[in-house]
Amino acid sequence: MSLRDSIIYILEKNRGSFVSGQAIAEEAGVSRSAVAKCVSQLKADGYPIASVNNMGHMLEQSCDILSESGIKANLEDFNGFVKVFDTIDSTSSEAKRMIAQGLNEPAIFAAEEQTAGRGRRGRSFFSPSKCGVYFSAVLYPGVALEDATAITAAAAVAVVEAIKNATKKDPKIKWVNDIFIDNKKVCGILTEAVSDFESGSVQAVIVGIGINLTTDCFPEELACIAGSLGKQLDRCALIADIFERLSRLCAVLPERSFMNDYREYSLVIGRSITFSRNGVDYTAVARSITDSGELEVLTDSGEIMFLNSGEISIRL
Ligand code: BTN
Repeated sequence: MSLRDSIIYILEKNRGSFVSGQAIAEEAGVSRSAVAKCVSQLKADGYPIASVNNMGHMLEQSCDILSESGIKANLEDFNGFVKVFDTIDSTSSEAKRMIAQGLNEPAIFAAEEQTAGRGRRGRSFFSPSKCGVYFSAVLYPGVALEDATAITAAAAVAVVEAIKNATKKDPKIKWVNDIFIDNKKVCGILTEAVSDFESGSVQAVIVGIGINLTTDCFPEELACIAGSLGKQLDRCALIADIFERLSRLCAVLPERSFMNDYREYSLVIGRSITFSRNGVDYTAVARSITDSGELEVLTDSGEIMFLNSGEISIRL
């Protein structure tokens, strides 16, 4: 770690509290004057740091700078790779490229802005600079493909709980894994598996998560469905919290214990919906979601169907 990264890490770990120049110098293994010089540079670069004689330096709670050290400082026992980009085509594409180059440890790729953010079904994901949280987590669940697909539901649960924790808002999951607040989509999740063709097993899973924090001018085609949390959050803490929740759920994927939470957070269960299947349009009531993630519906003609993929619309 560079001195700059070490100091950001120490200040992030103690966000909102003063740390003496001496303590920082000892932890970073440099002189106090080297610390003072580096802190001045961080301030010049926009870090909101308060420095007070005899108290030391404090990173303000309001700091919203996305950094590798900031994410790492919010993770417990993380032995993996973190990379933050100012701008990138897509954090999930970058994760794929790194896996192809031999990445074999848990990883987080985050960006201030994506120029070619990807959504499900070949759609794009609007990712303007500094307005959102755009990151991809690389995990190695070590399970067969049928269990690995449960990561999609686990990711939705992890995001809902992290947003609840950070905002006290009431996010809901629209099957399969869009996150809604007040009937607007505030977050999309794209889960991709990298499989080993030889063994047929899942080598790694890339969970790409995009959360709109303060985005307010969406392209016309998104304007009626997309929304945002409406406030800037500590993005480093939010990314770390989602990653840790998801990692914990990954360890129990085959048990599907998180599916009860998934059902509890569902926006869909009990609602009247419409969907198309094999070119036929249906109106139905969503009854439940099975542990394997299928949506159980009762159609208007009295037929029970289990949907395992596709889009549904909720009737208002
Ligand atoms: C969707 O709503 O269809 C899924 C959107 C997923 C967007 C995230 S942002 C971070 C990661 N990188 C991407 O290119 N996509 C995902």
